[in-house]
Amino acid sequence: MGHAEDGRLLLLEAPLALFPGEVVEAQVIWRARHGEGRVTRWITRDPRRAPAACPVAETCGGCDLWEAGRHAPELKRLMAADLLRRQLGEGVSWAWHPAPESARRHRIQLHWDGTDLGYFQRHSHVLVPISACPAATDPLSEAIPRLHAALTGQALPFRPGRWELSTGSPAQIVWATDERGRTWQLEPDGWHRSAEPIRHRLGEATLQHEPGAFFQVSAPWAAEAFGGLLGSWDLKGDTLFDLYGGVGLFSLLLGDRFRRRVLVESGETAVAWARRNLAAAGLPSECLVADVAAWVPEGLGEAGDLILLDPPRAGLEPALCDRLLGAGARSLVLVGCDGAAFCRDLKRLAGAWNLEQLAVLDLFPLTTHVECVALLSRRP
Ligand SMILES: C[S@@+](CC[C@H](N)C(=O)[O-])C[C@H]1O[C@@H](n2cnc3c(N)ncnc32)[C@H](O)[C@@H]1O
Repeated sequence: MGHAEDGRLLLLEAPLALFPGEVVEAQVIWRARHGEGRVTRWITRDPRRAPAACPVAETCGGCDLWEAGRHAPELKRLMAADLLRRQLGEGVSWAWHPAPESARRHRIQLHWDGTDLGYFQRHSHVLVPISACPAATDPLSEAIPRLHAALTGQALPFRPGRWELSTGSPAQIVWATDERGRTWQLEPDGWHRSAEPIRHRLGEATLQHEPGAFFQVSAPWAAEAFGGLLGSWDLKGDTLFDLYGGVGLFSLLLGDRFRRRVLVESGETAVAWARRNLAAAGLPSECLVADVAAWVPEGLGEAGDLILLDPPRAGLEPALCDRLLGAGARSLVLVGCDGAAFCRDLKRLAGAWNLEQLAVLDLFPLTTHVECVALLSRRP
């Protein structure tokens, strides 16, 4: 957020980070009460700005904070503080969980135009060819030229399209998945068709899912961060309602702290994996394919229960928030990867739920995105 010379409010977007106090030139579109712009030139530069450690940092649309260097976590904390202050008011207390330096992406989406393989530029479909990605785990980064060679040599379906490279944790095997969900595994002699699931070790448990399906981008760090946070909140009780549950990450992380689990998720394949993952971990569960907003009944839960919601970026539907105001559970955990939508939903739930804890996790290092997590308690 910035200000024009005449004081008018500006929402600015800058490649590779903006430090507080920097003076810039920007292309601005003026709206009724503010301007929205993109930085085109720096007039004064913060001395903390560092050369980007990625050769395509400026053009590639994948990362936002390369030039913040080692100050990126602090800059991001300031952005989160600013967002929470604007959305929830002064005085709201929250905990910041910066990412460890080792956090890397275990899942990247690349585009192949028939000649080059790379990421799209910011806000465009212009391809930036890449041969490595320092934001990804080493095995994924090293697989990029191998995928390019296989596409060029027509050893893989070579029509232009989107490819996802993914790996488990620990990161060893690399999978490439095309737009049709077909998957190949990288071996020393090249790519081989595969029906193997991706595996993630979570303490004693193993979580599996299909390559190409939704899972946390920096998987080991996400599991560590969520596991540590939920553990510190000492959540336990009778039934855990794991809503938007995916393949069962939160049910597994909370383990036997709850007597039973009900997981609701709209993806059929994800639910099938959730059933397998939770059964293999010895956790009795009911896993249902359903739209959460349609499934949540009036008065969901009893006094010993927890409702955990981890919706997609858009957050919760207003009608779902209304129904949650009358829920019977004692506690509710809300997880959100879009700060503004998350704060909007907190405010909608405030009619019946008190905010007990608020944490911001840097699950997406080098980008401006964060994961917000709140623990709410039912007002008596
Ligand atoms: C942010 S992800 C969270 C997944 C899981 N909690 C995890 O951390 O791995 C959101 C999940 O909600 C599912 N989803 C999206 N819309 C849904 C809906 N209307 N009802 C149920 N699930 C939905 C998606 O398929 C996705 O698995």
